[in-house]
Amino acid sequence: MDSRENFGSKLGAILAAAGSAVGLGNVWRFPIITGQNGGAAFIVIYLCCIILLGLPIMISEFLIGRHTHSNTAGAYRIVSNGSPWKWVGRLGVFTGWFILCYYIVVGAWTLHYTYLSAANAFYDVPATEYSNIFTSFTANPWVPTLWLYIFIAIIHYVITKGVRSGIEKFSKIMMPTLFIIVVMLVVCSAMLPGAAKGIQFLLVPDFSKVTGTVILQAMGQAFFSLSLAMGCLCTYASYFETNTKLATTAINVSVIDTIVAIMAGFIIFPSVFNIGMDPNDVQTGASLTFISLPNVFQKAFGNGTFLAATVSVLFYFLLFVAALTSAISLHEVATAYISEEYGTERKKAAVVVTVVITLLGTVCSLSFGPLSFIRLNGLNIFDMFDSFSGMILLPVGGFLTAVFAGWVLDQKLYKDELSNHGEIKASYFKLLIFSLRYVAPLAIGMVFLEQTGLFRKLLDLLR
Ligand code: TRP
Repeated sequence: MDSRENFGSKLGAILAAAGSAVGLGNVWRFPIITGQNGGAAFIVIYLCCIILLGLPIMISEFLIGRHTHSNTAGAYRIVSNGSPWKWVGRLGVFTGWFILCYYIVVGAWTLHYTYLSAANAFYDVPATEYSNIFTSFTANPWVPTLWLYIFIAIIHYVITKGVRSGIEKFSKIMMPTLFIIVVMLVVCSAMLPGAAKGIQFLLVPDFSKVTGTVILQAMGQAFFSLSLAMGCLCTYASYFETNTKLATTAINVSVIDTIVAIMAGFIIFPSVFNIGMDPNDVQTGASLTFISLPNVFQKAFGNGTFLAATVSVLFYFLLFVAALTSAISLHEVATAYISEEYGTERKKAAVVVTVVITLLGTVCSLSFGPLSFIRLNGLNIFDMFDSFSGMILLPVGGFLTAVFAGWVLDQKLYKDELSNHGEIKASYFKLLIFSLRYVAPLAIGMVFLEQTGLFRKLLDLLR
């Protein structure tokens, strides 16, 4: 594959991978679960998860990708020497494609809310109305679908531009933009009266809130936030230059991801406290982002004022950028797979991927409106996609990745790649393997049992 593109620079590689990692998960889940689960105590646990589990798996994905210079399915096929472990790569491609189908739906919502904020549509809206605004928007058969197609079109455009002049160039513009917006919003929030309380809420450690479930939640969050367990990072690493330092890159990406997540908390909580809202009433996910926050911003920054509109626009635009770069990384997994495994031109492969996500994305999007009658256990199609990937596909993928890297992958190859063929020291090699062999599979296994509810069933059985 001589025609294969590379990232042109180390910085480009880091920013692209960071673009994948920094996504909706950082903004709409991390701050809230941190606030509600012991503040700084939770952050400490989260950091331990990143260091003990996240980094070893990220490094392994990087390593497999860079070693094989191939899409995820091809990469695992090559390193598994024809054994059934090749299915881990295929599972990754499937998972990424699957996640993308519902992730883009939320990406589309961020566009609509950017527009609403810019149009000052939240002026004088009573607090109770926000929920109606959101549900009637998502239930509308046309508006969310239209935004969805715009969002998909942007992804498609960047992907067809290629690795270097598409993904890399785009990340180099978007990631600094994202960072500047985050800093601006943190400053705005910090200037609010009562901001200190919000920051305290996030940072004062309360170890009494830390339970087994909280630790498992931290692990799950670390995995999703770092984009692990499904080949995103493996695919990107296949475009790394051969002398990229894998461990350093992984640390950089994790640090950027964590800083953005913590700063998102510094945006959200000062405003929440400022308007006297009980932080424990703040929900995670869609309700936080599209129901609580527009209200919070109006109240905190002055109903209908230019400042409130600006903060609101910046916030939704930030979410849009975060979601977009993550979505691009998910699209690339599938595009690289189709183009390399089936020998099609990259542009044609991208079209195949885009057509599939357009169809399934539309279904997910409509599942809040015309298709909301289709339900399983009370979940609509969008929720089914979300739960199935979060509870089953990601943990299974993560577990298999860790076991494969720790037990199956040739250790000499691992060490060789880690040290860039002896060029740099890799004294942490043994520790890494230890984590991959024992710590990570055990921990992920427990997250899996907990999330699927099997853990409680087991405990009940033992009682
Ligand atoms: N990490 C992104 C976020 O925080 C989402 C994401 C992108 C992802 N690629 C992924 C999650 C791969 C799991 C696996 O929102």
